[in-house]
Amino acid sequence: MNPSRREFLGSGLAAAAWLTLPGARAASALTRRRSGFGAAVAWADLHADPDLAEAVKTYCTQIVPVYELKWGPLRPTRDAFAFGPADALVDFAERNEMKMRGHNLVWYYGLPDWTREIASPAEAERELTRHIETVVSHYRGRLASWDVVNEPIPDNPKSSRDRRETLWTHFLGESYAGIAFRAAAAADPNARLVVNEYDVEFADPTSQMKRAALRRFALDLLDSGAPLHAIGMQCHLRGDRPIDRDGVTRFVAEMRDEGLDVYVTELDVQDQYLPAPAAERDAIVAQRVQDVLSAISAPAPIGTLLTWGLSDRYSWISQMFPRPDHTPNRPLPLDAGFQPKPFMAAIEKFTRPLA
Ligand code: XIL
Repeated sequence: MNPSRREFLGSGLAAAAWLTLPGARAASALTRRRSGFGAAVAWADLHADPDLAEAVKTYCTQIVPVYELKWGPLRPTRDAFAFGPADALVDFAERNEMKMRGHNLVWYYGLPDWTREIASPAEAERELTRHIETVVSHYRGRLASWDVVNEPIPDNPKSSRDRRETLWTHFLGESYAGIAFRAAAAADPNARLVVNEYDVEFADPTSQMKRAALRRFALDLLDSGAPLHAIGMQCHLRGDRPIDRDGVTRFVAEMRDEGLDVYVTELDVQDQYLPAPAAERDAIVAQRVQDVLSAISAPAPIGTLLTWGLSDRYSWISQMFPRPDHTPNRPLPLDAGFQPKPFMAAIEKFTRPLA
């Protein structure tokens, strides 16, 4: 809420007058924000769709950019930093009393073509460090946390020591991660620094191994003295894949015992193999959300919980995992008309209203 509106609401009479303005948001909507809850948004969508902006303001205390801080959009050439769209997002967040998270600083995917010219360990370290120093200092004091390393574990790890091969491991081996965390901490000592990973929530052996590898990755970083503060569990859930509730709770408890926080960073549910009827599908989606959030919150309440998009109107799942029957996907807490679904009720069970 901006200060003028808050002052306006401060007086009962003025508030009553405001509520009667045509198109005004209902007072109850202002109370729907949950502490620590937020969503990923793309600037182009937020800018073009006032209903999306309204929904974000109604429900969220945090946002994270879908694209705008990734290397591809941010670094069109070796010397360019295209901060405009991410600046617009952080301005939107601050105007509306929300926090923004940073996503991400190191990722195997979506690197701009010019990075293929990098030819030596020294050059790799120089470019990695320059990127992190420049980007993190640009937002110093304004972003709550950064996904410093995104998705370091391969899809099918053979052992807990397996690491995804990337441009950075090619030149720097595993040292790239410590370099990245130290550069981020130096550029913004107050940002919480995160390693973020997907497919660590499920009961099958591949997911269990991925979780073991993420655990090893985090412990090695801590042992090396790197400033790692939190594990991000992306939670791109599958409607047809059971959650390893006990395994997830054990993992979260162990990470917390190591002094790390655990965030839910990209929650959504792929529903392409679920039954078509909306009510039935929404109930299964909400059950998966309930399963994973109850497992993660068993050791301690979840303080940071973001979904990857807020409304079914804007989700990567519609492009990446469309349904064979061509009915629209329903992967997110609000439907395509911005009405809350059982998914939102599940989130509300694991978050507190704003005080
Ligand atoms: C996705 C975006 O949503 C897509 O639109 C894009 O094409 C690819 O990236 N894990 C992550 C996110 O960390 O950055 C990804 O976002 C989804 C998986």
